[in-house]
Amino acid sequence: MPNASDDLFTREDPIFANKELLEINHLPGEGRIVGRDDEISNLATAVNPAIFGQSPSNVLIYGKTGTGKSLCAKYVSQRLVDTAEEEGVKAMFAYVDCAQDTTETQAVQTIADSVNDPAVTGIKVPDKGLSTSTYYKRLWRILDALYDVVLIILDEIDKLSDDDILMQLSRAGEAGKISGCKLGVIGISNKIQYKDRMDERVKSSLCEREFVFPPYDANQLRDIMDARSDAFRDGVLDPSTIPRAAALAAREHGDARKAIDILRYAGEIAQSMGASTVKENFVTQARQRAETDRFRELIRGSTPHSRYVLQALAILSLSNQQQDGFRTSRVYEVYENICRQQGSDSLSLRRVRDLLKEHAFLDIIEQSKHSGGSAEGSYTKHQLLEDPDVVKDVLTEDV
Ligand SMILES: Nc1ncnc2c1ncn2[C@@H]1O[C@H](COP(=O)(O)OP(=O)(O)OP(=O)(O)O)[C@@H](O)[C@H]1O
Ligand SMILES: [Mg+2]
Repeated sequence: MPNASDDLFTREDPIFANKELLEINHLPGEGRIVGRDDEISNLATAVNPAIFGQSPSNVLIYGKTGTGKSLCAKYVSQRLVDTAEEEGVKAMFAYVDCAQDTTETQAVQTIADSVNDPAVTGIKVPDKGLSTSTYYKRLWRILDALYDVVLIILDEIDKLSDDDILMQLSRAGEAGKISGCKLGVIGISNKIQYKDRMDERVKSSLCEREFVFPPYDANQLRDIMDARSDAFRDGVLDPSTIPRAAALAAREHGDARKAIDILRYAGEIAQSMGASTVKENFVTQARQRAETDRFRELIRGSTPHSRYVLQALAILSLSNQQQDGFRTSRVYEVYENICRQQGSDSLSLRRVRDLLKEHAFLDIIEQSKHSGGSAEGSYTKHQLLEDPDVVKDVLTEDV
C-alpha cells in the first residue's frame, strides 16, 4: 500500500528555486546592485579618507522609499571595511535602524554592542540596565580599544526621538571622547524636511555631504528583477512577467522594494493556484498586495496626527469620488473632526500643512497649486495617490 503522505505533500517547491533572493532583508551581492553606480561612487568618495586613517565625511542620504539608500549605504560601508583591512587599517561599521531603536539609549546600546568584541575588550554591553552616559563611556572605550575608524549608519534617522545622539557622535572626536578612533556618520532619511528640524549645530557637522537618490525607471527596475530571476526555477517565469511588473512599478513610484515584492507575490499566487508558471496576469493581483504592504510600511511609526491627516484625505476621497483634490482648509476641517473623535487636541494649520508636505514627498499624496483669481488668491489642493480604500483599511487596522 502506498504511503498516504506521498500524495499529501509536495516535496519540492515547484515555483521557487531560491526564494531568499526575493526576501525583504536579502542583501544582494556584487553585480546585483543595478543602476546606482554614481550614488555608490559618491558615497565611496565621501568615506574614502577612512582608508588612510583620516576622518570620513559625515553624509546624509535622502530619497524616496525603495530607491536603494539602505542597500548602498551598507554595501559601501562593507567595501570600505574590506579595503581598509587590506591597507592595515582597522575599520568597522555599525548599522542602526532608528525606527527600532528610537531612543538615544537604545541606539548607543546597539552601536556599542555591534562593534564590541568582549573577548578582546573585556567590556560588557548589556541589553539594558545602564544609564545612557555609561553606554556612551563604554562605546568610546570600545572604539579606542579596537578600531582606527568606524562608520555608523543611522537608518531612518528621522525616527529618532531627539538629536542628542547625533550631537554626541558628530562631536566625539573634538570633544576628546575618543582619541585613537575616527567616526563617520551616514544618516538616511526618506523625509526631505528632516534637515529643517535638525539642531543647527548638528546640521553643520552631520551634513557635510548630502546625496539624493532618485526613483528607478522601468529599465532599471527590470534589470533589478532580472538580476534576481534565478529565485525561480528554470522556465517557470513567463517572459512577460518581469517587464510587466517593472512597467507597473515604475509608473507608480520607481520603488525597487515594491517591484521585488510584486515578483515574490506573483510567485506565491502561482503556488497557491497550483499553476506551473508565473503568468503576466498574476502581476495585477500581486501589485494590489504589494501596494497594501508598501503603504503599511510607509506609515509605520508615523505619529497619530500624521495618520489623521491621511485619514481625512481618504474620507474626503471616498465620499467625493469624482473630485480631484481638496483644499487645505477642507482637509483641515475633516482632520479636526477626527481629532475630536479621538479625544485629541488638533495641531495648528501650519503643522498640518507640514504633515501634508511630508506625505507629498513620499508620494502618498500629490499637491497642486491653483490660482483662484484676484478675489481668492492662490491655494493648494491635495490628492491621495494611494488607493483610498487601502489607506482607510491600513489606517484602521492597528488601532
Ligand atoms: N539598485 C538596486 N539593485 C538591486 N536591488 C536593489 C537596488 N535598489 C534597491 N534594491 C532592493 O530593493 C529593496 C529596497 O531597497 P532599500 O531598502 O535600499 O531602499 P531604501 O531606499 O532604503 O528604502 P526606504 O526609504 O523605504 O528604507 C531592497 O530589497 C534592495 O535589496
Ligand atoms: Mg531603507
